[in-house]
Amino acid sequence: MNKNIVKIMAAAAALLMTAFPVAAAEEDIMTDNSKTLVVYFSHTGNTKSIAERIAAAVPADIVRIETVTPYTGSPNEVSAQGKREVDSGYRPAIKPLGVNPADYDRIVIGTPTWWYTMAPAVATFFDTVDLSGKDVVLYMTNAGWPGHVIKDMTAAAKGADVIASKEILFDSNGGNRMITPAAEIDEWIAGWK
Ligand SMILES: Cc1cc2nc3c(=O)[nH]c(=O)nc-3n(C[C@H](O)[C@H](O)[C@H](O)COP(=O)(O)O)c2cc1C
Repeated sequence: MNKNIVKIMAAAAALLMTAFPVAAAEEDIMTDNSKTLVVYFSHTGNTKSIAERIAAAVPADIVRIETVTPYTGSPNEVSAQGKREVDSGYRPAIKPLGVNPADYDRIVIGTPTWWYTMAPAVATFFDTVDLSGKDVVLYMTNAGWPGHVIKDMTAAAKGADVIASKEILFDSNGGNRMITPAAEIDEWIAGWK
């Protein structure tokens, strides 16, 4: 009798041991199925740092938008070039992303504010990608003059469902010091991830 009880307990233990790895594997598969891509442009690193924060928390694949011709001038020169490009609606050519946004369910798009709107390179990205049916998260960094970036990005994300957005403030001198508290950003990410 005791031997039978031992046998039953051993069988139950074996079952439990196999059940748990199976549950863990299923969870992994679920995570892999819901794929998130973070796409960002960044000239001086601020928008990049937020992209990396998001990609670490979600998790997500991460890719940087790069213009074929890099912005190489002094801060004043890039500022003036940016103004000319924004004012004229110029769309700089961008390098291939190396990933296919169609492979992702959710796409996070980040831009610095350039003359109250998204950077022209990000406008090029919107022009070249089909976001219809995707969940999209938008964020922008700025130096105190946020303008209408999120509104413009929302309009550019044609057919997408914008599930969250965030304006993130950096140093008003154009530096890398983040003014928006990190905890506020983490809370925002936790709200949609
Ligand atoms: C061409 C250019 C235009 C900018 N225009 C604005 C603006 O209109 N409003 C603002 O708050 N900051 C503006 N900035 C500052 C950047 O948006 C801010 O420093 C941002 O965090 C930079 O992001 P990045 O480091 O990822 O390039 C501008 C910067 C550049 C280079």
